[in-house]
Amino acid sequence: MKVKEMGYTKEELLEIADKYLAEPARRWNFIEEQGDGIYVYDEEGNRYLDFFAGIAVSSTGNCNKKVSEAIAAQCKQVIHASNYAYTMPMLLLAKKVCDTVGMEKIVFQNSGTEANEAMIKMARKYGTDNFGLEKYHIVTAKNSFHGRTYGALSATGQPDNACQAGFQPMLPGFSYAEFNNLEDFKQKCTENTIAIMVEPVQGEGGVYPADKEFLQGLRDYCDEKNMLLLYDEVQTGWGRTGSIMAYMEYGVKPDMISMAKAIGGGMPIGVMCTSEKLAKTFSAGAHGSTYAANPVCCAAALAEIDEILENHLAENAKEVGAYFMEQLKKLPYVKEVRGKGLMVGVEFTKPIAFEVKHQAVENKLLITAVSQDIIRLLPPLIVTKEDCDEAVRLLIKSVHEAAM
Ligand SMILES: Cc1ncc(COP(=O)(O)O)c(C=O)c1O
Repeated sequence: MKVKEMGYTKEELLEIADKYLAEPARRWNFIEEQGDGIYVYDEEGNRYLDFFAGIAVSSTGNCNKKVSEAIAAQCKQVIHASNYAYTMPMLLLAKKVCDTVGMEKIVFQNSGTEANEAMIKMARKYGTDNFGLEKYHIVTAKNSFHGRTYGALSATGQPDNACQAGFQPMLPGFSYAEFNNLEDFKQKCTENTIAIMVEPVQGEGGVYPADKEFLQGLRDYCDEKNMLLLYDEVQTGWGRTGSIMAYMEYGVKPDMISMAKAIGGGMPIGVMCTSEKLAKTFSAGAHGSTYAANPVCCAAALAEIDEILENHLAENAKEVGAYFMEQLKKLPYVKEVRGKGLMVGVEFTKPIAFEVKHQAVENKLLITAVSQDIIRLLPPLIVTKEDCDEAVRLLIKSVHEAAM
């Protein structure tokens, strides 16, 4: 749908947004009308350099041709099939994901938060089935983000954040330990703890990569105490951090992994992968969803994964990400540039991040800010060093404008 062809003006559409959308607006002041690779276009045809990728989703570029074609072709066959049916895209995707991420079984969901619900539910049921009714506690990291449904929200270690405020009480059975602090995690575990759950790189919390020793320490401790190690790879997965899954980069394998975002190439899909042994926890009817393994989403995911693998986008993320992080040190007021691959955060010495984000959009560069002093950069994984140079040029301008 195009704004002008449909006979609307941008102002009329923004009035509709104001009048009917319940979610208070933090959206950009334009209508996103066309995506094309590393670019997004508004209703006037203005071109924006996309260093946001729809929040780490459009890894193979906006409107990737092969993904779009796979979606269109599947729409002519089966759009929805219910969770009583097998479909080709579902079965081929199950095999491809398990083989690629080194796991045995998959649970299909529709989003990142649901992939985490599946992971939390399986861990809790495994604990109470095998070790007694109190064995359902999970320790997660402070400053983590796991989603907005109640299980994932309760796992999110940010009690003062707007995403939890006013929604209490949270689900019982979660406690929070300092990220990258193995001793604190050990202290927070009790005889009722069944699992530890972390993001290998905290995204929403400010782009903080885990230390290898920390993840290895968690793995060893979980093995020693018969507990499960759960990774939320919703944001880090599928090439973003420079390897197909971030856990591969660290060489520390979890018992369960949740994934979403990039796997679907823009279609709503989340999955959770685990071992054959743990998957037995879900007996028939224990967990499910009407839309899970939707054939159109699965067809999109198959095409997206092929594109990521065939075009070596994880390797590109590693190489271009390292270059980008070096260049970002040229920005004014930089305190730290950190991240992994193309999951990059810039922390400023001044509380200018939200204004930098605003100015960047004015300068036709899409980025996001995660706090008043940290911006986050998540370009599609097809990005080139030249695109990064252009983004750095626009960012220098935006930072100067924001700091005025
Ligand atoms: C690490 C992580 N987990 C879970 C989620 C929730 O995913 P979704 O928004 O698809 O529910 C996000 C979203 O930003 C995330 O970054």
